[in-house]
Amino acid sequence: MSTKDFKRYTVTTALPYANGPVHIGHLAGVYVPADIYVRYLRAKGEDVILIGGSDEHGVPITIKARNEGITPQDVVDKYHGIIKKSFKDFGISFDVYSRTSNEMHHKTASDFFKKLYDKGDFIEKTSEQYYDQENKMFLADRYITGACPHCGYEKAYGDQCESCGTSLSATDLIKPKSALSGNVPVMKETKHWYLPLDQYEPWLKEWIIDGHKKDWRPNVYGQCKSWIDSGLHPRAVTRDLDWGVKVPIKGADNKVLYVWFDAPIGYISATKELTPDWEKYWKSEDSKLIHFIGKDNIVFHCIIFPAMLKAEGSYIMPENVPANEFLNLEGDKISTSRNWAVWLHEYLEDFPEKQDVLRYVLTANAPETKDNDFTWKDFQTRNNSELVAILGNFVNRALVLSKKYYDGVVPERGVTTDFDNEVLEAIKAFPEKVSKQLDNYHFREALRETMNLARLGNKYLADTEPWKVVKTDEQRVQTIMNIALQIVANLTIIANPFLPFSMEKLRKMINLDEMTWDKSGDTELLKASHQMNKPALLFEQIDDKAIEAQVQRLLDTKKANEAAEHKAAPQKESISFDDFTKLDIRVGTILEAEKVAKTKKLLKLTVDTGIDTRTVVSGIAEFFKPEEIIGKQVSILLNLAPRKLRGIESQGMILMAEDADGKLVFVSPTDVVKQGSEVK
Ligand code: MF3
Ligand code: ZN
Repeated sequence: MSTKDFKRYTVTTALPYANGPVHIGHLAGVYVPADIYVRYLRAKGEDVILIGGSDEHGVPITIKARNEGITPQDVVDKYHGIIKKSFKDFGISFDVYSRTSNEMHHKTASDFFKKLYDKGDFIEKTSEQYYDQENKMFLADRYITGACPHCGYEKAYGDQCESCGTSLSATDLIKPKSALSGNVPVMKETKHWYLPLDQYEPWLKEWIIDGHKKDWRPNVYGQCKSWIDSGLHPRAVTRDLDWGVKVPIKGADNKVLYVWFDAPIGYISATKELTPDWEKYWKSEDSKLIHFIGKDNIVFHCIIFPAMLKAEGSYIMPENVPANEFLNLEGDKISTSRNWAVWLHEYLEDFPEKQDVLRYVLTANAPETKDNDFTWKDFQTRNNSELVAILGNFVNRALVLSKKYYDGVVPERGVTTDFDNEVLEAIKAFPEKVSKQLDNYHFREALRETMNLARLGNKYLADTEPWKVVKTDEQRVQTIMNIALQIVANLTIIANPFLPFSMEKLRKMINLDEMTWDKSGDTELLKASHQMNKPALLFEQIDDKAIEAQVQRLLDTKKANEAAEHKAAPQKESISFDDFTKLDIRVGTILEAEKVAKTKKLLKLTVDTGIDTRTVVSGIAEFFKPEEIIGKQVSILLNLAPRKLRGIESQGMILMAEDADGKLVFVSPTDVVKQGSEVK
């Protein structure tokens, strides 16, 4: 099948849930590779559409709305707006970016269900499901939590364990609890419609296991195979909820389509919105359908959605599903709820005009075959020592020298040396090397090859040294500069899918229109006597300060999370009242304070206890400056046996409360009291 000639491409990107903004994990996994791919196909003159939109149904959205006291529509309106704008500003070149709460989608998804229902493709089944009596609601998917039967993780959801990734149903959970009330749910009967996946097993085996062993990524193929091998079962495609696409049949009040039934149909609805000619992209055997997704979406795009399309009967199947693994952030799993992410809209605020830097880093470090880690240090290094030092440096040298020697007019190429000819041959070979990688969804490798073209440029200039030769042989320099400029011109085509903003800038500098892919490899893209414009820097250094600010933001998040997750220590063994009254705790005032020499933590305090004035050594120097605490009333344990610290006798102990992060604060009276007042 993969050798087939396709006339057009239908490229879809997983519809992000509109319950939060998009982050670098989404970008690296789905949107950046998809955008590179379609920009490349467009340059080749292919008929291609890039489909996107917001996934606006599902329980996480209704839970968020409930927690914030707003409607689900409010939630999705807010995030759809943020997501759509950030994609646009980032240069993800959707032909349509739609949303699943709109009418076109509701009608499309509803009709799709109705068609399968009318054909008798569903199994109708009444079963007992968990119900929250307090909220008068069935608990599906994320409305229910409990322990995972596979790994024991205690906060697994009714549809999936986020710790081990297993897909679950609510009744699998051990010790289930309502996510709304925290109550133990009861069982109650309800009717639902099931897609009998088991009936599609023979077909799925043939289509995937036999048909796509070679061309699908091993991680994608492997996941599908293990699903199919472990046996497929009917799967409910409706839910007892009030937010979603209404189930379009009688007797199904208060029921909606399962979000994973309606969302992928969103690709089709969006195409309808884009063009009245939508059917050719979805029903024509010469259209190539490709789904860009993250690995948690594999089963839905490779098994369930294809089974739906197969049941319907008039649709094509995906040719490939190049799912990526996950991107972590500074060693930790990216998490929307824990705010552990680099959010696209915030990145664009902090680094306006640096879209290409992030596109570059996420591609160079794409999690294509295994999970990868994004670090700000790596971001800085890749910018400074790759984009600036390799690509930027080459382009800048070529353009600045041309400006200086020829006032920006492309010089004539004279007699070429063997070395020149080798370089010219190498230029011609690049497009195919990059194409081959892109055609196989190897975006990292494609980018590496592209950078090799800039490396070739640098090497060519370093080896030919036009800045030296110019003193003796001006004609030779003309030839060198002509060739260097052809490399620059080739870069504007080959690097364009990866770095569209910078290549547009570069095209302006060399005064060249956007070229089609078949022009790449041409060594006469810039004709002699062509006038170029003023050169400017293509990339800029990113300094430590900018990186430190980002790292600091993450450290702050980590601290906030630790504090939120901190559990108070369990209670100590009980003591008698008599034991307690043995403690002589008083309120005293700090009269003097000074640092104990050669220590980091200790302050020597002089305290008026109401009985006497005494010396106390206290380990609080990291949190208080001596001058800040003079005059402060504090609680002090008087009858603690004196002990020597650093040669100073400490006659008592100041009482402190220790915060989750180790910070110490005084336990002081909230009103002024007389020195020596007893604390009891
Ligand atoms: N919203 C889902 C997620 O973020 C993806 C939906 S993809 C679609 O995991 F095909 F269902 F649209
Ligand atoms: Zn688990």
